Amino acid sequence: MSFDVAQVRAEFPILQRTVNGHPLIYLDSGASAQKPRSVIDCIARYYREQHANIHRGVHHLSQQATQAYEDAREKIRCFINARHAHEVLFTKGTTDGINLVAAAFGRKFLGAGDQIIISTMEHHSNIVPWQMICEQTGAMLKIIPINQRGELLMDDYESMLGERTKLIAVAHVSNSLGTINPVTEIIKLAHQRGIPVLLDGAQTVPHMRVDVQALDVDFFAFSGHKLFGPTGVGILYGKQALLNDMPPYQGGGDMIERVTFEKTTYNTLPHKFEAGTPNIVGGIGLGAAVDFVSQYDEREIVAHEQDILEYATQKLTDIDGVKIVGTAANKASVISFLLDGAHPFDVGTILDQQGIAVRTGHHCTQPLMDFYGIPGTARASFALYNNRADVDALVAGVRRAAAMLL
Ligand SMILES: Cc1ncc(COP(=O)(O)O)c(C=O)c1O
Repeated sequence: MSFDVAQVRAEFPILQRTVNGHPLIYLDSGASAQKPRSVIDCIARYYREQHANIHRGVHHLSQQATQAYEDAREKIRCFINARHAHEVLFTKGTTDGINLVAAAFGRKFLGAGDQIIISTMEHHSNIVPWQMICEQTGAMLKIIPINQRGELLMDDYESMLGERTKLIAVAHVSNSLGTINPVTEIIKLAHQRGIPVLLDGAQTVPHMRVDVQALDVDFFAFSGHKLFGPTGVGILYGKQALLNDMPPYQGGGDMIERVTFEKTTYNTLPHKFEAGTPNIVGGIGLGAAVDFVSQYDEREIVAHEQDILEYATQKLTDIDGVKIVGTAANKASVISFLLDGAHPFDVGTILDQQGIAVRTGHHCTQPLMDFYGIPGTARASFALYNNRADVDALVAGVRRAAAMLL
């Protein structure tokens, strides 16, 4: 289907509502994206007509729900072009996926003196799980530095790779800066030394398609709710050989082959990593979200969002006192900004009074804010349903905030 932003907007019922007496201008999709009618209807239909527990019943409903859940896994396999559906694990979200790798990979492959490489711009969910496994194993973190524009220093990265490096875990797209990192190069340099790479894809999939085989990435984690799907569900892609080598993350139903009090043997992939009743409706709803984005040509979405990014960057830069934090050459449609002399929270509050939703604060990237020597920013993050009128409203709102605060 050809991409028409007016038609896309019409698919999102929430965009029709008002906030504080103004039409909603939703510029916080980086935190969580809104849901199209097809996803909302899919969730309601599932609970109305299909619900039962999966993978364990002979009865009709259980088989139907199992089929719908596994169909969703297959859709997601196709969406990221994984080789096998069993390499696509359902999780609670990006955070859960990264914790899974940290715990399971870490327990098997990390020891005292080993190193994991992350970067200065990581979200807390790609920092803290590694710190926790480092505490348990004696491994340590090394941090790729960045420049003022918010780009990784690739020479420094290359020189960090060594005998003791066991894993690279970096954001594909920075949630605070919008930087799109050179992941092909990152993976190539790591693989030349036999080191696996995890990409935090939370901010990738809403903006661009990912082909995990073409990237040759070893682990790729993302969240359903940022991809126009439900909350509480996400995906961890992992290469079969690595997942088979890793011990289970959690124990419980579904992840076992045979349990006795003496010894338990584990199920095959993907079930080995999916203990307990999963978020069934979440998985099925995520399948519907993937159907939604897949109906558009990715190049048209990218072109639309790049137009919004450039337009907004230009218009915001024109405002006296506005400084954009994160000016990498290769960016997704995320703009963090400061209004000189004003606290981001005040800017966000004044924008909210005009129905404009932006995020304020450290965006779960405190070390990155420390790098810039700031407590936080205001952040406008755009999705495929935003248009130039949204940018105009933001710019008018920031001008009003500047008039009130400066
Ligand atoms: C880059 C990045 N990584 C990880 C996360 C964590 O995602 P979730 O809270 O859905 O697990 C986010 C969420 O904002 C993010 O932007």
